[in-house]
Amino acid sequence: MTQHQTADITQAVLDRLSDSTDPRFREIISAVIRHAHALVREVDLKPDEWMAAIQFLTRVGQTCDDKRQEFILLSDTLGISMLVVQLEQARRSAKALQDRTATLPPTEATVQGPFYWEGAPVLPLGTDIGVGMPGEPAHYSGRVTDTHGRPIAGCCVDVWSGDGEGVYDMQMGGDAGMRLRARFHTDEQGRYHFWSIKPTYYPVPDDGPVGEMLRGMGRHPNRPGHIHMMVYRDGYVPLTTHLFADDSPYLDSDAVFGVRDSLVVHFERHAAGSAPDGRVMDRPFHSTSYDFALAPAA
Ligand code: BEZ
Ligand code: FE
Repeated sequence: MTQHQTADITQAVLDRLSDSTDPRFREIISAVIRHAHALVREVDLKPDEWMAAIQFLTRVGQTCDDKRQEFILLSDTLGISMLVVQLEQARRSAKALQDRTATLPPTEATVQGPFYWEGAPVLPLGTDIGVGMPGEPAHYSGRVTDTHGRPIAGCCVDVWSGDGEGVYDMQMGGDAGMRLRARFHTDEQGRYHFWSIKPTYYPVPDDGPVGEMLRGMGRHPNRPGHIHMMVYRDGYVPLTTHLFADDSPYLDSDAVFGVRDSLVVHFERHAAGSAPDGRVMDRPFHSTSYDFALAPAA
């Protein structure tokens, strides 16, 4: 009988790419084939195990809707999202990192997560976006500069977080609308400041297939307390990052591997009274400060 293909099935599949015209697609799909075949061989995968994997991926897809993206959660919890973020930041910041006259490294990026909502209201500096939400008030302030320490005026600081119980507006049900999110623009000195709540730790959605996977791995689903910030202005590499509270549990075991030491900040607790911006608080509050440095766009 004629042997219709190479004895090595991996090579046979790779050989079928000879008419593929997009070189980058070809590079990526070749690597997918090689690594997937190597995985099957390495663990000597059984048919029922492969079927269980297919059923798992099917359930991941079926769990997605316009508010829930289980595939991103899968990527996040396997550390793939953070790896992609790190590679992209290294690539886009290379010029700034090689600039010997630069005085600051670009602020580190981390995962965006599924709760970004485009088009948050543009609010004046100093606005409190945590009014009426569970949680302890916190004052946030700092500057945005380039990697030479020069202020970036008119820079957008787009912030979002869960409430003081770790619940995001998108998870609040009903028509909660946008809560605890806003866009601020830095002043002439590159300064930003606003009020929100001090963020607390919370679990990533774990009532679906990714939750089952985490339990199978013996892992918890929690993220340490953090506030998300997207900092961008034309001419600079846009930054998507978080600030993490230094007293939060799970800093060492973030479910999505997003913690960078340089992003951990201290929230100082104050008794009721005068706040840094002159506001008089009738209950205890926190304050924290963080300066962002953006790399120049290539
Ligand atoms: C978040 O921080 O909002 C988040 C990030 C990754 C997965 C789930 C939630
Ligand atoms: Fe978050």
